[in-house]
This record gives sequence, structure tokens and C-alpha cells, in this order.
Amino acid sequence: MSFSVHIQPADIRFEVDADEALLPAAIRQGIGLPYGCRDGACGSCKSRLLEGRVVHGPHQAKALSAEEEAAGLILTCCAVPQTDCTVEARSVPGAGQYPVLKLPSRVLAIERPSPDVAVLRLQLPANQNLRYRAGQYVEFILRDGARRSYSMANAPHLIGSPPAIELHLRHMPGGKFTDHVFTALKEKDILRMEGPFGSFFLDEASTKPIVLLASGTGFAPIKALIEQLQHLGSTRPATLYWGGRRRADLYQHAWCEAQAAATPWLRYVPVLSEAAPDDGWSGRSGFVHRAVMADFPDLSGHQVYACGVPVMVDAARTDFTAQCGLPAEEFHADAFTSEADKHGPL
Ligand SMILES: Cc1cc2nc3c(=O)[nH]c(=O)nc-3n(C[C@H](O)[C@H](O)[C@H](O)COP(=O)(O)OP(=O)(O)OC[C@H]3O[C@@H](n4cnc5c(N)ncnc54)[C@H](O)[C@@H]3O)c2cc1C
Ligand code: FES
Repeated sequence: MSFSVHIQPADIRFEVDADEALLPAAIRQGIGLPYGCRDGACGSCKSRLLEGRVVHGPHQAKALSAEEEAAGLILTCCAVPQTDCTVEARSVPGAGQYPVLKLPSRVLAIERPSPDVAVLRLQLPANQNLRYRAGQYVEFILRDGARRSYSMANAPHLIGSPPAIELHLRHMPGGKFTDHVFTALKEKDILRMEGPFGSFFLDEASTKPIVLLASGTGFAPIKALIEQLQHLGSTRPATLYWGGRRRADLYQHAWCEAQAAATPWLRYVPVLSEAAPDDGWSGRSGFVHRAVMADFPDLSGHQVYACGVPVMVDAARTDFTAQCGLPAEEFHADAFTSEADKHGPL
């Protein structure tokens, strides 16, 4: 048995199998819907059910509150249709453009640019052509079937030959996967992955000036976006804000300075929230999204691409739209949700 889903206003129809949630069915069939974590934690897939009935699998109240659900909102990543449905959702052309592949990858190199960041280079099989958009991510499939998501830090034209992707991982002590990466992972190890996933990538049709906003390893997909803009020959003014607590958190500061020096349309503003005397910091300080608001009190004509810890992404979304006039649809983001977000306090 299957149900028919009708996406409005784009007028797209697709079938969902019995007991299948809406979003996985859309991804399977190359339909571009907005999403992030695929796991009921980030809220990026929130849409409105216009007709029909769904039941939700486990999800966070932060992503969809009981009031929102009562008002007809759904999370497509965990909403399982019980009837044919009509859903009002943004269409994201390109999100389903490339086939999702399951593939092994081999660790080529592990660098540690700061004590709690690892930069991995992973070689991909040459016979399985992983294609993706700058900003998208892959999921590692762990031995117990758990999955962990990481965004490609190199734009697709820089994948090289033999093909290799670059990932930036922050150690979360007690974390199932990053504990392994920081204590046991070594060159030549094989990691199973699936991808590409995600609807966080450049809106190439827009000509608006851009704010790129990253916290910590949220810099990874932002770096890929910068490389993509350079590759496209873009001249859209772009300002990169990269925030960390301490100087070491800006683990590729020199790369950013070099790009800003060589790229006429790119400006770089590093921001530290807890700089210590031994950081020797004379740059901006405070919350990184506040630095954006100080420099751009009017964001009504901008596009924002934000990535990193959920608390930063949520604050930026709320404050930019409420206080700086950013149109909600011009806030593009991936929140790096983890198990802590799924089990921690609301
Ligand atoms: C779309 C997307 C893209 C991402 N891209 C990146 C990226 O490029 N780089 C990056 O560094 N991260 C990224 N992340 C985050 C990443 O996927 C992982 O969540 C993160 O690396 C932690 O994985 P882990 O297995 O080490 O920790 P987990 O096992 O997920 O644990 C995370 C933390 O929660 C704690 N914890 C575990 N279980 C519980 C519990 N039951 N209750 C309370 N606390 C608990 C752990 O002690 C640990 O401190 C991304 C996430 C998403 C959704
Ligand atoms: S809550 Fe559905 S994609 Fe994150």
C-alpha cells in the first residue's frame, strides 16, 4: 500500500510507501524538499499539512511543539502519512538532483589543526561518482547502524582525482563517533558512508549580497560555499563571520585571511566570545551573530548562510528576522544537531 503526496504550491506529486515518512520518500525519488538533520531535531523540514492525516515518529519539541502540531504543522522527516496528503512546503530545486550513494571511504589523512578539531581527507571509490552541491553533507553508518552527519568542506570541483572529500570534525567528549575519531581512527581505515544529503547550498539564481556565518566546525560547509562562489566567478559581495570561543577554534584562520586578501568581493570578520590573554586577540569579541547585527542592522536585502551549533543558528534566525528585517526565506542554515540536542533539556 502507498499514499500519494501532493506538494503545494510547486504542484509536485510523489508516492510514499506504507510506514514510510514523507521526507525519505521524497529523497528516494529525487524530490527537493527543505531539510537538515533527517531526525526530528532541527526543524528545517517543518511544513504545513493542508489535507490528509499523518502520525509523527519520535521528534524534539524544540523542532515541532505540541501547539505547532495542533495548528497543522508537521516535520516531513518523521511524519508518516495515514491517508493521501497535501502539504504546503518550500520546493528546493537541486536538493534531490544527485543520486544518494552508499559507499566505502578510506582515510587518506588526519590533521589536527586544533586540540578538538580533526580535518579528515577521505578517498572515495573512483568507480562510484559521488556528486554533491557545496554545502551538502554525508552520513557515516556506524557498526551499530547509528548515523553521524558531516558536511563536505571542499566544493565539488575540488574533489580531485582520485576523488577525495575533506571533512572537519569537532570532538564531542563522550560522543560515539568523535571519541573514536580522536582516539583510534588512523590512516587507511575504512568508513562506510551515504550521501549526499541536505538542502543547505547556494541559491545561485540570487544576486543579493551574502552574509556567511559559521561557528566552530560550521565553517566546513561555509568554506565549500566560498570555493563554489569563487568557482562560479561570482562578484556578489560576501562577508564571512567565523565565531569561536578561543583563538584555536578558528582553526583555518590563515586560509580565511588569504581568501579575503585574494578575493575582491570577500571580507572576513573573525569573532571570539571568550578570548583569553594568551590568545593575544585584538579582533572582534562577543557572540558571532551579534557582530553581524552590529555591522548590518538592515539585512532586508541580504541572503544569510549560517552553519554550526544549534543555539547559534536558532539565535541568528530569530534575531536577524525579527530585528534586522531579513526575509525568513533568505535565512539558509544547517544546525549541527547531535545526541545532546535530542536528549538534553529543552
Ligand atoms: C546536517 C548536519 C551536518 C553536520 N556536520 C558536521 C560537521 O561538518 N562537523 C562536525 O563537527 N559536526 C557536524 N555535525 C554534527 C555531527 O553529526 C555529530 O552530531 C557530532 O559530531 C557528534 O557525534 P558523536 O557521535 O561524536 O557524538 P554523539 O554520540 O552524538 O554525542 C554528542 C554529545 O552528546 C552526549 N550524549 C550522547 N548521548 C546522550 C544522551 N542520551 N543524553 C545527553 N547527552 C548525550 C555525548 O556525551 C556527547 O557529548 C552535523 C550534524 C548535522 C545534523
Ligand atoms: S527536524 Fe526534520 S530534518 Fe531536522
